[in-house]
Amino acid sequence: MVMQDGHGERDVQDALLDYINARYAPEDSLLRDVLETARAEGLPSIQVSPALGKLLALLIHISGARRVLEIGTLAGYSTLWMGRAIPQAGSLISLEVEPRHANIARRFIAQAGLDDRVEVRLGPALETLQLLTDELQFDMAFIDADKENYPRYLDWALRLVRPGGLIVADNVLRGGDVLEAGATDASTKATQTYNDRVAADPRLEAIVLFTRNGTGGVDGVSVARVSDDVSVAAEQYYRE
Ligand code: SAH
Ligand code: DHB
Ligand code: MG
Repeated sequence: MVMQDGHGERDVQDALLDYINARYAPEDSLLRDVLETARAEGLPSIQVSPALGKLLALLIHISGARRVLEIGTLAGYSTLWMGRAIPQAGSLISLEVEPRHANIARRFIAQAGLDDRVEVRLGPALETLQLLTDELQFDMAFIDADKENYPRYLDWALRLVRPGGLIVADNVLRGGDVLEAGATDASTKATQTYNDRVAADPRLEAIVLFTRNGTGGVDGVSVARVSDDVSVAAEQYYRE
């Protein structure tokens, strides 16, 4: 076994992640170009891994999602994985607060030939979300922006995602920080709130899958399905 050959557990996990990415989630030159450009432009290297990009695409295909909402575009890496998975008649709206990030992402969306279905909306997500109400009913939401607002993004996702749809969120384990009882860090506290609420909400059926972040730390992605059981929805309605 590799671990007994003097490799640490971390090395094995890195090697296995490479093994998975190379077989199951190979990047084409455009996806590699997004990462290279983002790095050259000084953007943080906090994109989803190829494996997580592939999982997002797979969730879209499995669920038949046509309308997808993303919160947190950066250079458009996860946006391209998802945009390539939605049908031509579908749409992906991605929310980004930094003009520089949005502009880079828009360039790659055009280069991918996806600007007929993928759109980046500039502004603080909580403000843009208010303006989305006439476009209600997404099939899937992917939350990956400022962690402090995860509970508020969850509220919006529950409002905007249809029964039977998916609410996915990156970085819900934060290198183990969520284990800390009485945490004071705002991002950690908000992530704990997000996980506790998703786990306890009778409208959601959910799990967290382990992931690794860019610096090799352990992290997780939360995958939740909104119930389409009318009795659950009605019960929730009468409780509110
Ligand atoms: N989903 C991307 C990574 C997103 S990184 C990928 O995997 O490729 C998080 C992004 O959220 C950053 O670009 C940051 O500028 C953006 N962001 C942070 N706070 C935000 C807010 N309040 N509204 C919208 N976007 C925000
Ligand atoms: C980090 C990773 C992310 O995926 C993200 O969305 C934000 C921050 C990080 O590793 O710091
Ligand atoms: Mg993330």
